[in-house]
Amino acid sequence: MDRTTIEALELALEASPDNLLLRKQVAQGYFSLGDFDKAKEHLNVVLQQESNKESKALLAQCYLKLGNNSPGIIICEELLAEDIDRDLLPTYLQLLINDGQIDEAITQYQSYQLKFPDWRDDQIESQLKISTKPVQEETAYNPFLEKPDIDFSKVGGMENVKEEIRIKIIQPLVNPDLFKAFGKKAGGGILMYGPPGCGKTYLSRATAGEIDSKFLSIGIEEIMDMWLGGSEKNLHEKFEVARKNNPCVLFFDEIDALGSKRNDLKQSAGRNVINQLLKEMDGIDSQNEGLLILGATNSPWHMDSAFLRPGRFDRIIFVPPPDEEAREQILKLQLADKPIKEIDYKKIAVKTSDFSGADIKMLIDLVVEDKLRVSMKTGKVETITTKDLLGTCKKVRPSTKEWFNTARNYALYSNVSGIYDDIKKYLKL
Ligand SMILES: Nc1ncnc2c1ncn2[C@@H]1O[C@H](COP(=O)(O)OP(=O)(O)OP(=O)(O)O)[C@@H](O)[C@H]1O
Ligand SMILES: [Mg+2]
Repeated sequence: MDRTTIEALELALEASPDNLLLRKQVAQGYFSLGDFDKAKEHLNVVLQQESNKESKALLAQCYLKLGNNSPGIIICEELLAEDIDRDLLPTYLQLLINDGQIDEAITQYQSYQLKFPDWRDDQIESQLKISTKPVQEETAYNPFLEKPDIDFSKVGGMENVKEEIRIKIIQPLVNPDLFKAFGKKAGGGILMYGPPGCGKTYLSRATAGEIDSKFLSIGIEEIMDMWLGGSEKNLHEKFEVARKNNPCVLFFDEIDALGSKRNDLKQSAGRNVINQLLKEMDGIDSQNEGLLILGATNSPWHMDSAFLRPGRFDRIIFVPPPDEEAREQILKLQLADKPIKEIDYKKIAVKTSDFSGADIKMLIDLVVEDKLRVSMKTGKVETITTKDLLGTCKKVRPSTKEWFNTARNYALYSNVSGIYDDIKKYLKL
């Protein structure tokens, strides 16, 4: 749109000032011309008459362009609280950065990345890195290290996994002398496997919270990228970041994808990255002290056995779906901050067999949505009842069964050295 067209539209607008559609067009036109003051003026008129997301988002962009950060941030926060529009994220984060709220921007960026693992914004990312990079040492501080705010008390059930983690990796860290006295060497990691949604990732983050340490998650896509780029160096840098920020929980998610690919990629750069990873895990001398290595997978049968040697993932733990008692705990934890009325947790726990923790979360999300809808009609906060939860249970399909169909075969036919005995026991085979 050129200026003449916009001016013509504005004339038309004078004739019918209530034509919001037209006014939005004019605002958009001025925005694209770079006249943000004019755009803002029209958007404000629109918003006085009608609240709509698009105009608010455009207004936030105007404020960004005009260097008026605070009102822009307020609008973005209001919009993002309603629902998270990914297109708005760069505007919001840029406003935070321009406003000097670097730490907040980093926290927000991380949380969006956790919510949308495939989302990223190079421009924002590089700004955050540059602006927070200390001068002395390049890898001393990495803004993408997370400091989880959950600990074991926020994780329902999983008692034996928690116990393993305590004994195998937390205790050596807090009582190094004791372990040395018994000639035990710290090091090595724990690999968790099991059906999806049963708390592997969640518990890993809680492990960092439990000992008040940092948390660095290395996703498979990231390592794949390193693969393609033939840049094993990046992997080394990740480990270095963790080492310099110790104690640190280093978490490898979906690590099976790595193992299974090693054979396919024997000749290519892929192998180098795997070998690099193995080398980093082995560490030289006490290089990896203070590093807690956890891994998670849904398909342990696809793991490269090289990962399972001593000093690497030398403990493999089955993470089953939560039992009745654990489900009761998870229900309590997840309903703790919701408006509830005398919930019969036991009853719901009974009705949710085969549910994963994530399924329970889904159940609660559904009930909350329903209640919100009713509350908006009645204008008061409607409380969640046992009946609501029981009624909605039927709408959620437990997601763990499918996994066991596959697992059963491996447990029966590829149970080399009893590695899947836990699955057999669970399935009563
Ligand atoms: N034991 C639990 N206690 C409390 N919440 C849980 C528990 N298990 C799962 N949840 C909830 O379910 C969500 C999904 O769990 P999580 O991502 O840890 O599963 P996962 O085992 O890593 O699954 P996947 O194999 O698909 O990666 C968590 O973010 C948490 O909200
Ligand atoms: Mg996970």
